[in-house]
Amino acid sequence: MLISSVIDLQQQLSSLRKDKSIGFVPTMGALHEGHLSLVRQAKADSDVVVVSIFVNPTQFNNPDDLKNYPRDTENDIKKLELAGATIIFTPVEQEIYPEPDTRIFDFGAMDKVMEGFYRPGHFNGVAQVVDRLFKLVQPHTAFFGEKDFQQLAIIKALVAQENLPIRIVSCPIVREPDGLAMSSRNLLLSAAQRTHAPLICQTLKAAAAKVSSTTIPALKKWIQTTIDTDPVLETEYAEIVDARSLQPIVQWDEAEQVQLCAAVYAGSIRLIDNIRLK
Ligand code: PAJ
Repeated sequence: MLISSVIDLQQQLSSLRKDKSIGFVPTMGALHEGHLSLVRQAKADSDVVVVSIFVNPTQFNNPDDLKNYPRDTENDIKKLELAGATIIFTPVEQEIYPEPDTRIFDFGAMDKVMEGFYRPGHFNGVAQVVDRLFKLVQPHTAFFGEKDFQQLAIIKALVAQENLPIRIVSCPIVREPDGLAMSSRNLLLSAAQRTHAPLICQTLKAAAAKVSSTTIPALKKWIQTTIDTDPVLETEYAEIVDARSLQPIVQWDEAEQVQLCAAVYAGSIRLIDNIRLK
């Protein structure tokens, strides 16, 4: 069922909520198998699956990125119907932001690093829209991809901060056959950029295999050099962090779970990926 107004959404959900569990998958559209894996997981878990498609302007720190963000709602709807979504929510901006959202969230050190550092204001915008969507949909469970590792941690922090009764389920990264993490932004890559992009995940995988035989500073340097030697790719950051706090570490034993997160430009297209190291 396709719904674009908040009133219709709430009407539908209020009767469903009585005896059914509600699963929610927020997206910005241009859907690929990564998104659909979240929808399938939601379907396996919940009675009703709500998927939102909304390109949220407040999380784009770069106006060109917002303008160029791929949009393909007609095909998205077909894919979601096939994947078994119950409600597809496609609001216009006015429905989500009847007035400008001026709230500032505080995630402490968590949003000062990596994506938060290089895309100032990005996670505040993500928190604004996800908080609004959570309050509109009031799901029992919401599904997020590990592809956006830092976003997932921020959402968990948001739910804890706001005391929202929502279970957050994290879903593994879905990759193309050559390893490239699926992303709506992959559509923007030129044919030449697309052939170079798999080096990102190949390097992360190779780095994971080196953990027992190297130090963190040496590994970070190796990753950066390996990627930057490619004529098309340029590393913005490659950080090795405590998976819980997201803070960079310098010794392997500083954290129980360790994640390597990277952002890499292929020309003007910014790609992110991550892998667990420990
Ligand atoms: P979007 O980039 O459309 O992603 C929607 C969801 O799909 C996120 O939880 C993201 O982590 C997940 N996802 C994307 N690519 C994936 C892949 N290759 N494997 C597994 N999961 C993947 O993330 C956003 O939108 C927005 O910030 C949003 C949360 C909707 C707020 O506007």
